[in-house]
Amino acid sequence: MSSVARYVRDQRSRYVDQLKELLAIPSVSTDPERAADVGRAAGWVRDRLKAAGCTAASIHPTKRHPIVYGEWLGAPGKPTILVYGHYDVQPVDPVALWDIPPFEPTVKDGRIYARGASDDKGQVIIHINALEAHLKTTGTAPVNVKFLIEGEEEIGSPNLDPFLIENKNKLKCDAVVVSDTAMFAKGIPSIVYGLRGLAYLQIDVTGTNRDLHSGTFGGAVVNPANALIQMIATLKDARGRIRIPGFYDDVRALTRAERKAFASLPHTDAKFKRAIGAPALFGEWGYTTLERVWARPTLDVNGMWSGFTGEGAKTVIPGQAHAKISMRLVPDQRPADIAAKAAKHLKKIAPPSVRVSVQNLHGGEAWLAPTDHPALQAAGRAVKRAFGKTPVLVREGGSIPIIASFSRILKVPSVLMGIGLHDDNLHAPNEKLDLDNFYRGNEAAAFLMEELGTAP
Ligand code: BES
Ligand code: MN
Ligand code: MN
Repeated sequence: MSSVARYVRDQRSRYVDQLKELLAIPSVSTDPERAADVGRAAGWVRDRLKAAGCTAASIHPTKRHPIVYGEWLGAPGKPTILVYGHYDVQPVDPVALWDIPPFEPTVKDGRIYARGASDDKGQVIIHINALEAHLKTTGTAPVNVKFLIEGEEEIGSPNLDPFLIENKNKLKCDAVVVSDTAMFAKGIPSIVYGLRGLAYLQIDVTGTNRDLHSGTFGGAVVNPANALIQMIATLKDARGRIRIPGFYDDVRALTRAERKAFASLPHTDAKFKRAIGAPALFGEWGYTTLERVWARPTLDVNGMWSGFTGEGAKTVIPGQAHAKISMRLVPDQRPADIAAKAAKHLKKIAPPSVRVSVQNLHGGEAWLAPTDHPALQAAGRAVKRAFGKTPVLVREGGSIPIIASFSRILKVPSVLMGIGLHDDNLHAPNEKLDLDNFYRGNEAAAFLMEELGTAP
């Protein structure tokens, strides 16, 4: 075993202690009351980058939450990698469904539980540890390393594109390395070469200028909740096709080779269904489950509210009804174009008895990388060394909009080497990270630096 590999193994308990420190900071980016905590998490990351051996580490304020940048450039002539991750986390609601307080990290049954454990604090830390391991054992590293760790991923990275544009030179690199994705399954490591994009809308429907007694007025006015439900019900047909005109215009068809590759993966609908407690699966006709979640666009209601939802009964016709709707996109759909088409369609199908307004909350482009790229191949070798198995190539249904920006703005390839699992409860109660994946992830990150150092 190399000295670096041995060092990473010896440091396991310290790595967990450090992860606990970061997980204890409630850096919920969407909550204005947590802004100071988000700042504290940024400070923690900067300090850790310095302690790990970065020669520079700094905090860059934005309109909202800061970006942390760090670098170690002591290997002239070697490739440079840019590690991207995020130190912000999702809100914890419904907090009553957690078995532990979400910001009191707890190790149980070989897993660490806390908000942010697998999205994305654990993964940020493995790459910092990897640089440290090389520097501590050999005094140098196989590649130059830059770190870009943001605090706004979970709110759509509104200030990161401008930062990339303004700092093109500072961020210059040969490849971006990201671990903010999952593995195909426990024991089946994977490299992700595609992500879906996103268009996220809020629909506000107004019927009258106030809530009304449903006896005095019921029958004489349109109920905006009923109207909104009817509109939404027409957005998808019985075969799971989305009925917004032009929605599929730019969808890139799956290739025969890709469909074959998806079909060869160890997935079964029966297991998938059981794991999530669904009586039956549903999706676009003519596509398998993996095709539906990885390579076909969707439309889903994320939340709806209107009228009375408290205990007991209240006879009321609400004055307003609201829904949040998101569409997962695939290449070559463009978020702004899809959002505009959806808004236009919603206004068109609204009954004349209500007023409808549609807000575009945020969006992001889908991403698809060539699978024969040397950086991706290098990641495959690193994963194999750490996990003992050749990783499978997969796409993901989730979105990391900044990945498309790296190719568009910095013109560099990204490598997605995830260590999460699909039952890690991302964005849900009892988020966790498998500690064995964390330990191997630390090794894989260290090996990846070696493999990229010698890649063509
Ligand atoms: N890490 C996730 C994305 C992800 C999850 C990729 C699972 C692969 C598998 C990321 O933090 C995230 O939650 N992204 C958001 C989009 C963002 C614009 C809020 C998403 O996918 O909903
Ligand atoms: Mn994430
Ligand atoms: Mn997330």
